[in-house]
Amino acid sequence: MTLLGEDLRGKRVLVTGSSRGIGAAVGTAFASLGARVALHGSGNGAGGNDAAAKLALALSAGGTEVYAVRGDFRDPRAVESAVDAAVQALGGLDILVNNAGTMVGRVSLDRIGDDFLDEVIDLNLRSVVVACRRALPALRASGGGAIVNTVSISARTGGSPGSSIYSASKAFVSTFTRSLAAELAPDRIRVNAVSPGTIDTDFHQRYSSPEKLAATAARIPLGRLGTAEDCVGAYLFLSSEALSGYITGQVIEVNGGQLMA
Ligand SMILES: NC(=O)c1ccc[n+]([C@@H]2O[C@H](COP(=O)([O-])OP(=O)(O)OC[C@H]3O[C@@H](n4cnc5c(N)ncnc54)[C@H](OP(=O)(O)O)[C@@H]3O)[C@@H](O)[C@H]2O)c1
Repeated sequence: MTLLGEDLRGKRVLVTGSSRGIGAAVGTAFASLGARVALHGSGNGAGGNDAAAKLALALSAGGTEVYAVRGDFRDPRAVESAVDAAVQALGGLDILVNNAGTMVGRVSLDRIGDDFLDEVIDLNLRSVVVACRRALPALRASGGGAIVNTVSISARTGGSPGSSIYSASKAFVSTFTRSLAAELAPDRIRVNAVSPGTIDTDFHQRYSSPEKLAATAARIPLGRLGTAEDCVGAYLFLSSEALSGYITGQVIEVNGGQLMA
């Protein structure tokens, strides 16, 4: 039996949306296991223009090979460029974690404009399809690999008021995950997803009030909101051929029991 996560050493990994939050925790964990990692940020995020670059520098000091790529994923061409830059820096690709995304805003149906609709869909849905399509030749060239998509508990519950387009975009990615898993199985590329519940990152600082978060925490069976680090294990597990080599097309819920079904 391979030591837990040992087979991730030396793997070439791109984690999108890893300048902060869940993606930063996942990228950091891959680096600590000796994977070669490309981190990604929009270049215009709250963490500053170079948050992913700063994290890459800090992790590289630990002796691992970590790069940073940029791209505003509301633009499909920027998604392609970021994937290309990562593949070039890493000399190929074994694992793609599609994590970049956000709600953009809480907007009720009567206020949803076409621009808002496009922005939420381009960022959370189209970017995942484009990243997978662009990474496919490199994943195939590796002789197989893993794609892990970040979806959301709201893909199944519908989320709370004002999140309809975001929640539906995540539901699209869940279904896309299952369909792609069957399509890419002959290439030995496994496709799975992690579905976080309410995770205490900048995301909720932006979209949820402290009162809403406290009320949510009180309803969670494990008695608290999740942390970015709580999500890491599921990503590593689904990326590791040794640990999950016979698992594809699945969505793992990481939510402290917030949704059980
Ligand atoms: N927190 C939760 O409760 C929760 C629950 C379910 C699902 N999720 C999903 O988990 C993922 C990570 O969320 P998080 O909680 O870690 O949020 P976060 O702390 O806000 O981080 C979001 C990440 O996505 C990137 N991103 C945002 N807008 C982007 C854009 N236009 N172009 C490229 N990258 C962009 C950000 O990069 P910059 O900082 O460089 O902009 C950042 O790295 C997202 O897909 C989110 O939808 C979160």
